[in-house]
Amino acid sequence: MNPEESPPQLSGHGSPFGGTPDPFWFDFQKKEYYFSKEFNKEDEMGSVIRFGVSLNKELLKEFDSLVEKTGYKNRSEAIRDLIRERLVSEEWKEEEKETVGILGLVYDHEARELTETLIRIQHQYIDLIVSSTHIHLDHHNCLEVIIMKGKSSLIRKIADELLSTRNVKHGKLIMTTTGSEIA
Ligand code: NI
Repeated sequence: MNPEESPPQLSGHGSPFGGTPDPFWFDFQKKEYYFSKEFNKEDEMGSVIRFGVSLNKELLKEFDSLVEKTGYKNRSEAIRDLIRERLVSEEWKEEEKETVGILGLVYDHEARELTETLIRIQHQYIDLIVSSTHIHLDHHNCLEVIIMKGKSSLIRKIADELLSTRNVKHGKLIMTTTGSEIA
């Protein structure tokens, strides 16, 4: 179908979520994708490329309900974020890639030698640790958030070392990116 053509009037089609119209949608009867004119305007201005995706009806239904639940305005936004998430995880697989890690740790500061150990480890890798914040959660428990930038292999190593320290109750490494290689 020529994307410049007006899509036929179909009841119950278009963006199922209201708000911003979905730049592309699927007509279940004709089994065809349609692209909105608004999307073409965007296309002329920048480097946006449209593509069709073949998808099982049930899978699309599940995806749509996920999109609605998570609050995306349309499918395209959700798909873009899924792609970016996958690209970030690929960056993390390359050990030499410059990445960003955010590590959160919860621990009891009264546990023997724990605070000293955590501080000692952080001082060892001073070049990679960009920032750290300590929050006293209650009389015993502390939350430490450590932001690191550098090779993914090294960030993982520091995170593992801190997380495996005895008496750290809980922790999680969020693996993100500097964003320089992702559009
Ligand atoms: Ni504290």
